[in-house]
Amino acid sequence: MRIPMIAGNWKMNTTINEAIQLVSEIRWKLGAIDNVDKVICPPFISLAAVSELIKGSSIKLGAQNLYFEDNGAYTGEISPLMLADLCELVIIGHSERRQYFNETGEIIDKKIQAALRFGLKPILCIGENSDENEAGKTEEVITNQLMASSTRVYYLSGLVIAYEPVWAIGTGRAATGKQANETIGFIRHTISQKEGKRIAQDLRILYGGSVTAANAAEFINQPEIDGALVGGASLKPAEFLSIVKQTAEIRGRLSG
Ligand code: PGA
Repeated sequence: MRIPMIAGNWKMNTTINEAIQLVSEIRWKLGAIDNVDKVICPPFISLAAVSELIKGSSIKLGAQNLYFEDNGAYTGEISPLMLADLCELVIIGHSERRQYFNETGEIIDKKIQAALRFGLKPILCIGENSDENEAGKTEEVITNQLMASSTRVYYLSGLVIAYEPVWAIGTGRAATGKQANETIGFIRHTISQKEGKRIAQDLRILYGGSVTAANAAEFINQPEIDGALVGGASLKPAEFLSIVKQTAEIRGRLSG
């Protein structure tokens, strides 16, 4: 059984004080929910404060990005060496980074390698945009993204994949559970062919794109979907808690 994961991607939201307040509101209740990996990914500047707040709890901390060099003359960047003491996970290749910051497959590949060098678990984001979706190119795009950043060591390391169709991110227009399950099944199949059945079966693949407390169950109930990467709804304490709770309940039922 793959342990489900719910990861909150706060994106460029919250001051340090707001981050402290948000985490303070949810940490006890969130920490008490078993059998789900609970991850929060605040902005870089809040990582240290949040890390103190969740110390000793079962909540895991993730960064939203990193640079692939360890240190040096890279003004404004944050390295995996700097993150390694603070975080367990790091989101890599989010579509907003691909789109607004010109991240290519090659850059994403270097970032994954850098994260793994320091023991950070990457959450690799992949997904097609609406033009590609309408042109029926979803599988082709996803295959290219997987191949651009795939070596055996990634999958063996327990990398997490988040399938996030770009047209569903922040739009309120989530994929249906069935659609997401099919595409995630395709991702698992592709990895199975390349890396073998066992690696593919152990790999966690999340869905992301307009997940809310109201639609989370639709995704979690699908056999191929191992959780969610949650943007907007992760900034609302009650909403995020509800998504994690529903996941624990549904998965408990499915495995019981
Ligand atoms: P959303 O974002 O939940 O606000 O659609 C998801 C993401 O970008 O990870």
